[in-house]
Amino acid sequence: MLTTANTSASHQKSALKFQFKTFEKLPVKVWDDSKEASIHVARSIALAIRQKQQDGDRIVLGLATGSSPIKVYQELVRLHKEDGLSFHNVITFNLDEYYPMPKEAPQSYWRFMHEHLFDHVDIPKSQIFIPNGEIAMEEVQGYCEWYEKQIDLHGGIDIQLLGIGRTGHIGFNEPGSWESSTTRMVRLDNLTRRDAIKDFVFEENVPTRAITMGIASIMKARTIHLLAWGQHKAPILAQAAEGEISATIPATFLQKHKNIRIVIDMAASESLTRVTAPWLCGICNWTEELACQAVTWVSQRTGKPILKLTNEDYNEHGLSELMLLENGAYDLNIKIFNRLQHTITGWPGGKAHADDSTRPERAEPAKKRCIIFSPHPDDDVISMGGTFMRLVDQGHEVHVAYQTSGNIAVHDHDACRFAEFLIEYGQSQGFANEEIEQSYKKVVKFLKTKKTGEPDTPEVRTIKGLIRRGEARAGARYCGIGDSQIHFLDMPFYETGKVRKGEISDADIEIVAHLIEKVQPHQVYAAGDLADPHGTHRVCLDAIFAAFDRLKGHKWMKDCWLWLYRGAWHEFPIYEIDMAVPMSPDQVQRKQKAIFMHQSQKDSAPFPGEDAREFWQRAKERNKATAEIYRKLGLAEYEAMEAFARWKFDWQ
Ligand code: F6R
Repeated sequence: MLTTANTSASHQKSALKFQFKTFEKLPVKVWDDSKEASIHVARSIALAIRQKQQDGDRIVLGLATGSSPIKVYQELVRLHKEDGLSFHNVITFNLDEYYPMPKEAPQSYWRFMHEHLFDHVDIPKSQIFIPNGEIAMEEVQGYCEWYEKQIDLHGGIDIQLLGIGRTGHIGFNEPGSWESSTTRMVRLDNLTRRDAIKDFVFEENVPTRAITMGIASIMKARTIHLLAWGQHKAPILAQAAEGEISATIPATFLQKHKNIRIVIDMAASESLTRVTAPWLCGICNWTEELACQAVTWVSQRTGKPILKLTNEDYNEHGLSELMLLENGAYDLNIKIFNRLQHTITGWPGGKAHADDSTRPERAEPAKKRCIIFSPHPDDDVISMGGTFMRLVDQGHEVHVAYQTSGNIAVHDHDACRFAEFLIEYGQSQGFANEEIEQSYKKVVKFLKTKKTGEPDTPEVRTIKGLIRRGEARAGARYCGIGDSQIHFLDMPFYETGKVRKGEISDADIEIVAHLIEKVQPHQVYAAGDLADPHGTHRVCLDAIFAAFDRLKGHKWMKDCWLWLYRGAWHEFPIYEIDMAVPMSPDQVQRKQKAIFMHQSQKDSAPFPGEDAREFWQRAKERNKATAEIYRKLGLAEYEAMEAFARWKFDWQ
């Protein structure tokens, strides 16, 4: 069970407290969250800037773009505006730029840096260096040599900020980059290009090349801070920190740097050995959840079901201490097997009038009120369509709340089709109104001439949002609920018209809190994705946490349980699952049909993310994989399973 006091994060901490051996080959500092960490990094940079000012010196910063350093820049801007931090003595060199790339293009790193930092501080323009994506191809080589020389002429980089790509790139030094590389033109890896779709809408719009500082240029920096936030960075981060130095993961070269700090949040630390197998790092503070992690880990490593694990298996995997504490493998196996067995239920709303002492949900009240929060208009059916239908079939009052309009992820050609439909329908019925018809025609013209990355007009955004509304309504109706139980929240933070969203505000929280107060649910389901700290799912979850906090004084809130599901990409680790709802092959089919209602997201949706499969495929394969994990651990064999973790508040 996840609680505010007992999250897997604090579970990690309890293990870390006793740690004496590390598998990490460079210093890694894990923070509770990325904001706190970013503020710390920004303040250390500010301190260095001020120290240099006192000495009458300049300071050279190496800067990165992307989502990782955004909050560092926010804090630097705040320090400038509210705390008098001046940038007059600062010289900056940016790591990279797409090629070719006009400076003013919405996706250019030049624009990114100005929007996030330079336009808000007093840095002289002549002290800003960013690789130029506008240079002619034949001049690139000479330009790169000049850029490299400028770094040296300015005395070298004092503090370098880095992010890390999922390929292990630093800057745009992709796998295969050599250690002695300097500033140059490179080709982007396919995975990097896929990750960039969020800025370019379609993969074919993403440039294939970039100009980047090299590994050697980066390694010359006197101090390096590498930042990584979110679960999606966890596997590559672990390889960078624990793996052998090799050009296949360029970030491993950083292991040779004398003054580097890896600064990460809890989610990005998930694949480090200190988290995946803390017992290998030292003496652990054993809890039942940690024992469950250890048992499932040994079972997966040995390929043996839990009930067949022996003392020897545990001893060979660094768990002799646990054997002593638990009186041997036999007792431990049974305890953990039962724990996992009790997570499986076909009654996600609780089984009325049954003994619920070992069930994940309460038996009473027999008919519960439930709200399923869906960040985008299809996450409800993708992530928990099977459970949604079961709750309805078992007679609970189920509401679904679509938190955002999802309008950014509709193809222009779909919006165009709907606008043309409206024009032709109006004409065919003879109730065409000149003014309205002209506005639809304007929409069609705009869509037909729209340039890559150009933001949509408000009218187009409305049409795209309505397309998704219609699909969401069809999906929810298919799951069996009536229109009065379907809510569209259109949270304002999402409505920027751009891929990058705004900050969460009071208005977002109020909308969520208002619905919870109106329904007074016994169960709230929410997308518990920590994968992308800047992503929509995370912001939507933060709004739910804030709403719970706002409402916690109400008596009925004591009975309001929060169940988290994971989005289309990741599943919870097995030891964090509190409720696993099995699906039969027929139920899998039904769920698939509900997902099919989201036609605009079928057949290569915009922003497919890191995974080329369609959403229904990902959902199906993930649910199958979860059932397979249970089967391999020696539990019953099901076709598929949806998994949930309960988030328990201190005050419940
Ligand atoms: C950006 C850069 C890249 C990014 C990396 C991580 O200037 O050089 O190496 O740091 O791709 O990107 P985010 O931070 O967006 O995950």
